[in-house]
Amino acid sequence: MQIVETVSEMQQLCRDLRTAKAPLGFVPTMGALHEGHLSLVRRARSECAVVAASIFVNPLQFGPSEDFAKYPRTFDEDCRQLAAEGVRLLFAPGPAEMYPVGAATKISVEGIGDRLDGASRPGHFTGVATVVAKLFHIVAPHRAYFGQKDAAQLAVLRQMVCDLNFDLAIIGCPIVRAVDGLALSSRNQYLSAEERVQALALPRALQRIQQAIAAGERDSQTLVRQGLEELRDLKVDYLATVDANTLLPVSYVEPGTLVAVAAWVGKTRLIDNLLA
Ligand code: PAJ
Repeated sequence: MQIVETVSEMQQLCRDLRTAKAPLGFVPTMGALHEGHLSLVRRARSECAVVAASIFVNPLQFGPSEDFAKYPRTFDEDCRQLAAEGVRLLFAPGPAEMYPVGAATKISVEGIGDRLDGASRPGHFTGVATVVAKLFHIVAPHRAYFGQKDAAQLAVLRQMVCDLNFDLAIIGCPIVRAVDGLALSSRNQYLSAEERVQALALPRALQRIQQAIAAGERDSQTLVRQGLEELRDLKVDYLATVDANTLLPVSYVEPGTLVAVAAWVGKTRLIDNLLA
């Protein structure tokens, strides 16, 4: 696996790979890799001749009081794992390479970018959209892989790719969970043993809602009320039933409706979701 730190070198290498007519797959990450990230790499490997990944903890998507400084950084171990999964190119730029002094352009996905996490983390999706648009210009992949775990991010990026005519396919991949049901996340590392147990309220709330839907309940208010009972010991940011494409609230759950939750377990904000 070749590790590349500059935009110009990455752009050149990816351009060479593309002209070889091999489908180029791309998996953007912020590192601190776990099985969720690796599932994206494996899917990309199964569908593309060549896979590139990136590790960049993007300062632009963290709010001033968020965890940018303490975000887990495990670069050497990440490299080992990506190489073992057959990643050909790893783009790992520093902040100054991605945002040189004088950089002035941001991508704001209006409306949808201010819903769910975008509502509680103002500017977050502008940071995500900006860095992902830059990465797409640098790598120019045929296919880019993202986790359904970050369902709102996926919806925002699909909207951006459509609006800005990026010539690539966004591939959404299923949520990978620990055996007890907690969705894998780099932020799970922040949890104490006790908090790790409390965090199970998120998948439990979703499971309860899923069971109610399976039993025929469609009313969003009723479903949310039931889910909130499971979350009563946590500070809930949102538990919402929304259209998976627009992230707008729906009153009645239909197949494909996104049921999404964000809650604080101590100082750690976790998210999870299911598709009805
Ligand atoms: P990061 O949180 O590192 O996640 C990288 C990718 O892994 C995202 O597409 C995310 O949805 C996916 N992922 C994380 N946990 C997962 C799980 N349990 N199951 C399946 N997929 C999972 O998301 C970001 O980084 C950043 O916002 C990024 C897109 C890289 C832009 O900076």
